[in-house]
Amino acid sequence: MALRHVLKRTTIWSRIIVGRNFCNSNVKLTSKTKNDLESFKNKLSEGPSFSDFVQGNASSINTTASIDKEKHGKSVYFETYGCQMNVNDTEVAWSILNKNGYSKSIDIASANVVLLMTCSIREGAETKIWKRLNYLKSIKKLKRRKKENFQICILGCMAERLKKDLLDHVDVICGPDAYKDLPNLLHKSSMLGASAMNVALSLEETYADVTPLRLNESSVSAFAGCDNMCSYCIVPFTRGRERSRPMDSIINEIEQIADQGVKEVTLLGQNVNSYRDTSSGGGSYVTKTSSGFRTIYKPKKGGKRFAELISTIADRVPDMRIRFTSPHPKDFPDELIYAIKEYPNICKQIHLPAQSGSSKVLDDMRRGYTREAYLELVDHIRSIVPGIKTYIALSSDFIAGFCGETEEDHLETLSLMKLVKYNYSFCFPYSLRGKTRAYHRLNDDVPQEVKSRRHMELIDQFRKDALEINQGFINEEQLVLIECDSKRSELDWAGRNDQNVKVILPKQEVYDSEKGIQRNIEIGDFVAVKINSATSQTLKGDPIRISSIREWNNLKDAERINNYSS
Ligand code: SAH
Ligand code: SF4
Ligand code: F3S
Repeated sequence: MALRHVLKRTTIWSRIIVGRNFCNSNVKLTSKTKNDLESFKNKLSEGPSFSDFVQGNASSINTTASIDKEKHGKSVYFETYGCQMNVNDTEVAWSILNKNGYSKSIDIASANVVLLMTCSIREGAETKIWKRLNYLKSIKKLKRRKKENFQICILGCMAERLKKDLLDHVDVICGPDAYKDLPNLLHKSSMLGASAMNVALSLEETYADVTPLRLNESSVSAFAGCDNMCSYCIVPFTRGRERSRPMDSIINEIEQIADQGVKEVTLLGQNVNSYRDTSSGGGSYVTKTSSGFRTIYKPKKGGKRFAELISTIADRVPDMRIRFTSPHPKDFPDELIYAIKEYPNICKQIHLPAQSGSSKVLDDMRRGYTREAYLELVDHIRSIVPGIKTYIALSSDFIAGFCGETEEDHLETLSLMKLVKYNYSFCFPYSLRGKTRAYHRLNDDVPQEVKSRRHMELIDQFRKDALEINQGFINEEQLVLIECDSKRSELDWAGRNDQNVKVILPKQEVYDSEKGIQRNIEIGDFVAVKINSATSQTLKGDPIRISSIREWNNLKDAERINNYSS
């Protein structure tokens, strides 16, 4: 195990080095330019200098030097695929481009640049993006005929995974750690009529110095990369090594968005709870993984941990709801579980990805825990954050049909689901990814139709459990944060309760207990809602009054004391 671990680490390191030497701002000349040498020479005389072609360190590239920000007047159109990290990355990329003179386009037709923030997690995710690319290439041809500027840019995990394989399809390829180089890449590619690429991974980049320009105002990146190397997963190869953003920078950003009136924030990162800020020394929490859990890498030491981060945030912004995703089950020390219990503004909801209910499959997946250890953790969390109707909500990810998964293994996954009863489960059929350990060492031997059938059985089980849990909310009051119009009717609002279940309620006037007036509900209000019906995905109810996290919590405390004394 130790030797394999060293080998894996070496592979990642060498990939980072290869990324730096080979890929930085690498500009490939294609046949387009070869055919027109004269015009190329002219462009060169006004374009980047020879030094721009010399391979170097990403951080040494001056991203704005040769770009006339005021004059280019170009507009960008974003499309985001994949996980919440990509939503945040889009905001970071947009912030960088905005500072470099780009404006935002509301549609492809009027855009000069289309940026796709991509995902590689399963083959299906990439197939969807390839289809979109083909469509964009046809638009580009039409625009070229009309002599209009149009650049296609691939950002994110697919850029990182496929690197130069994308060169013949797009103008710019930019990996998750290279967004600061984006203006430079777009400029070079446009000047030379050639493709430009930077897929260098970094050991430090957290974009702590870039304030994301919010498209969705509620997520803040805390942690990047993943060192876990689960055998099926491409993320460590696309997102690089784990690194934590300094605590002060996260807190500053959250305080700023709280001042702008944002009422909920989600702390983001693959394994966000493995957070460890070593930038300012200190740290009051011991470093150990949850009991029965291990990592394939040497546990790191020191630094401020996630429990300290989330408690500090909860103290600083008491009127804001705080969530986090995606945590790993190995990093749930008691300090964190107690923080979730104690702070009314930390949501009573944990995403606890299990992946499988069979210890044998979990071992093949290299998840670092057994079925028993996972179930013990669930019991432990529920013993600390109890309650019947306000049960801490658990959600999970499951993979159906992983290499070597037998029918008995699959039944164990179903039984784990029945035992835990998740409020929500994301279920996926296993998809083989190149570079991963499963690709090299295991057999993708579960037939497609069996994978699909098991996948459907997992979904059915999750729906049954979620329906039962949601029906438990009927006749209960829930605190709902209003997010937007309901998709089905403009006469209704849609929001979420503390457990992250969607709640639909009619738009109407109710009493605002803080202001002492009757008024219409607005987006961003916390509303006490009496639930009257439930499906596996949604609750419906009637608004009772406009409330707040503090008022709600004081009332619940009083109720608890009354129940206790009677
Ligand atoms: N960091 C999180 C998960 C991030 S990826 C964790 O450790 O739990 C989101 C989910 O995609 C995973 O939890 C897993 O269920 C699924 N997934 C990842 N790779 C997959 C693959 N090759 N095939 C199918 N599902 C996969
Ligand atoms: Fe992928 Fe595992 Fe890392 Fe999650 S912990 S991102 S599943 S390697
Ligand atoms: Fe996809 Fe990359 Fe997120 S592979 S799930 S976009 S980290």
